[in-house]
Amino acid sequence: MRKKLKHSLSQTGGTEKTFCVYNSFDIIGDLAITKLPDNSSANAQAVAEAIMNRHRNVKAVFAQESAVVGEYRLRRLTCLKGENRTCAVHKESGCLFSVDVGSCYFSPRLSGERLRIAQLVQPNEAVINMFAGVGCFSILIAKHVPSAKVYSIDINPEAFVFMQKNIQVNRVYGKVTPILGDAKKVIETSLQGWADRVLMPLPEKAVAYLPAAVAALKPSGGWIHVHLFEHASKNQNPADKAKQKVADALAPLGLSFDVTFVRKVRSTGPNWCQLVLDVFIRRFDSLR
Ligand SMILES: C[S@@+](CC[C@H](N)C(=O)[O-])C[C@H]1O[C@@H](n2cnc3c(N)ncnc32)[C@H](O)[C@@H]1O
Repeated sequence: MRKKLKHSLSQTGGTEKTFCVYNSFDIIGDLAITKLPDNSSANAQAVAEAIMNRHRNVKAVFAQESAVVGEYRLRRLTCLKGENRTCAVHKESGCLFSVDVGSCYFSPRLSGERLRIAQLVQPNEAVINMFAGVGCFSILIAKHVPSAKVYSIDINPEAFVFMQKNIQVNRVYGKVTPILGDAKKVIETSLQGWADRVLMPLPEKAVAYLPAAVAALKPSGGWIHVHLFEHASKNQNPADKAKQKVADALAPLGLSFDVTFVRKVRSTGPNWCQLVLDVFIRRFDSLR
């Protein structure tokens, strides 16, 4: 598919620089979002046209003009071609996710990780998703394991509205409970000692919020899935660095734990990647 896109770019007069784009666009429902390489704005229309020619279901192409920033993890988008709207419905693993990519975080690149986690969940598990966005992890879990109960927290009111809608559309009402608020405060006030499994899909806050994730677990212990960004130069192993970060954050709590699995979720820049660590916290009743 990428080769075909490169071919159609060459036919619309794209340069080598423009071709970089074929490594960096996402399709979310019927919208495409591309990061244009520096100096390629002159070719932006050609890129947008090539994407729409290749992907006939794409109704609009947006350029991502900023990094993902702020508490709600948003990016600045400019419409290059097609319908100027940022709402879409994305199909993933048998679920439908409505999202406004202008006001909510969403990445199709997490689809593999979402499915992996859903497949780990056991019948009747109590799960907390601390940074749920429009509810993708939570809904996929409920679809896979109907007896699981998921509390799905996000601080962004717009994401919360879409999460409510997605819970209805995917018919997991009563299995996924949406909560609007700061995950740490929500856990402190109402979810301490409740969960078998806690998801932390927000690398920027994962370390600071680890004590809250531990507090959410049952005293019998449980799983925490921690997402981190890690830099590693040639001779370094990003997984080792990430494990050390988690160990340092858990050390003051005096817990016994194992990091059973580490996986690169995606590359995020030269020598940078997003990792997820599966951390099993052993029984810790005496800490309460
Ligand atoms: C990377 S996105 C989550 C992606 C989502 N899990 C998915 O699969 O699409 C991180 C989310 O965390 C939310 N967030 C940021 N700070 C938060 C906090 N303190 N408590 C709860 N949610 C928070 C943001 O609004 C954003 O929707």
